[in-house]
Amino acid sequence: MTIKKKINEFLSRASRLVKGGGEVSVQKQMKSGKLNARERIDIILDQDTFFETDLFVEHTAKDFGMESQKLAGDGVITGFGKVGGRAVALFAQDFTVAGGSLGKAHAGKITKIMDSAGDMGIPLIGINDSGGARIQEGVDSLCGYGDIFYRNTQLSGVIPQVSLILGPCAGGAVYSPALTDFVFVVDKISNMFITGPQVIKSVIGEEIDAERLGGAVTHAALTGNAHFYAKTEAEAFEQIRGLLSFLPSNCTEMPPVQDEFRSPSKPLEGQDVLPNDRKKSYDVKDIIKGILDSSYFFEVQEHFARNIIVGFGRICGRSVGIIANQPMVLAGVLDVNASDKASRFIRFCDAFNIPLVTFVDTPGYLPGIDQEHSGIIRHGAKLLYAYSEATVPKFTVVMRKAYGGAYIAMCSRHLGANMVIAWPTAEIAVMGSEGAANIIFKREIANSHEPEKTRLEKVKEYEEKFANPYVAASRGYVDMIIEPHKTRDALIKALELAKTRRAPQYMKRHGNLPL
Ligand code: HXC
Repeated sequence: MTIKKKINEFLSRASRLVKGGGEVSVQKQMKSGKLNARERIDIILDQDTFFETDLFVEHTAKDFGMESQKLAGDGVITGFGKVGGRAVALFAQDFTVAGGSLGKAHAGKITKIMDSAGDMGIPLIGINDSGGARIQEGVDSLCGYGDIFYRNTQLSGVIPQVSLILGPCAGGAVYSPALTDFVFVVDKISNMFITGPQVIKSVIGEEIDAERLGGAVTHAALTGNAHFYAKTEAEAFEQIRGLLSFLPSNCTEMPPVQDEFRSPSKPLEGQDVLPNDRKKSYDVKDIIKGILDSSYFFEVQEHFARNIIVGFGRICGRSVGIIANQPMVLAGVLDVNASDKASRFIRFCDAFNIPLVTFVDTPGYLPGIDQEHSGIIRHGAKLLYAYSEATVPKFTVVMRKAYGGAYIAMCSRHLGANMVIAWPTAEIAVMGSEGAANIIFKREIANSHEPEKTRLEKVKEYEEKFANPYVAASRGYVDMIIEPHKTRDALIKALELAKTRRAPQYMKRHGNLPL
């Protein structure tokens, strides 16, 4: 065969393979409102940067007619590319090829690209759109999932791993995304569940449709399994680009620094930050935006456990992770979900050298039978653990209430905060004045001729004595008290100082986080 013929043969083989599952399946994918795998890759990556690997991989399965079936790329596309100028590794399951089902060769392509991502120290993006384990390949498919889960775990904390759910992702397949750092879902396109509606109906008789069981809204708002919710695939791709811009490529690097940055477009002004009435709520995002560069806050898990806010931003061009109680939702209490949400975020930031800035205004852990029986002790402990364990620089701003266990849990100095800043409006006490006065002045109130008047007097007395930052500052638990509008400047100085921070640690294999 001449060289020209050989090249033509190669080109014709390659062009067949890039067509995926053929015209009928591609049309079906389009009609279902989904992009196909190659379109997705083209949109996520910077233009013309895709560098495909393993296009010619084939399965070797023989049972159930597989011997005669040619599956383009074995139903998954793998390779490298750039996002925002930085290298990433990625895989995209191609639903047009045998429903993107995962057989041994398919899994082998994924694990190979995962290994490369780890070797090169670059983020991994996984696009999931699959009918799950390839039924014809039996236990080989299960082995493939196990190999992926193992690598997800080995690479956790080494490189950022993100998962897009852009179609079905059912059964054990959901556990790869669940092991990654961030999960993106798209309205009416994503579906994730361990067992689908039909199995649920036949086994326990409950009826629910796939969307309500495991659609995008369910996972973004109810289960917390998803971190980002988008209306369209294009929006999700933008979110991924936004997210990666804050992150280093791997745990040995520092996050990228933006040389050109702007001050907040809505800076905190003088006294106007908090409502005068200390019982009134406010939107803590206004405070966060008043401190970050260009007032740009990139929120994570926006729709889940809204009583705590987490997300990324920049201060003088440097990435920071923000954790803030949200007084607008449940008065900013800490509960089971808020503890889980914040703890996981803190651990991510700690793994990837992103300093933590915590804004505190919380009345405490949420009381009640439901919370106690849902394991608030165990879940709340995660927050203590995550903050105590974190060795990145940790700064805390106490804005208003910091009561009881929640004062300690929200990155107090006792858990290793490097700088605790309080505003004059801070109330650092063992509990709220009402509750405290009712307990310690119980007898005086009961014996009084005017119990309600006495009670109010005692509440006021407690409030004046303890509901302020001065007692904590007098003990050195608070490093400085400043006016709110000086917070950004203080954080800039603190971040600058913390650049050289060293954090001594005990030798150990690993700790035992209360899961
Ligand atoms: C082999 C599969 C497949 C699978 C889909 N296909 N899932 N082939 N193994 N798991 C094939 C179909 O036969 C079909 O091939 C093509 O993909 C498109 O599928 P359709 O059913 O036509 O598409 P749609 O109507 O959109 O339905 C999508 C679906 C459905 C809901 C995902 O295909 C489905 O229920 N699939 C099975 C899901 C499942 O039970 N998977 C195993 C889970 S167990 P043709 O040739 O007709 O185009 C599991 C264990 C993992 O994953 C454990 C890890 C620890």
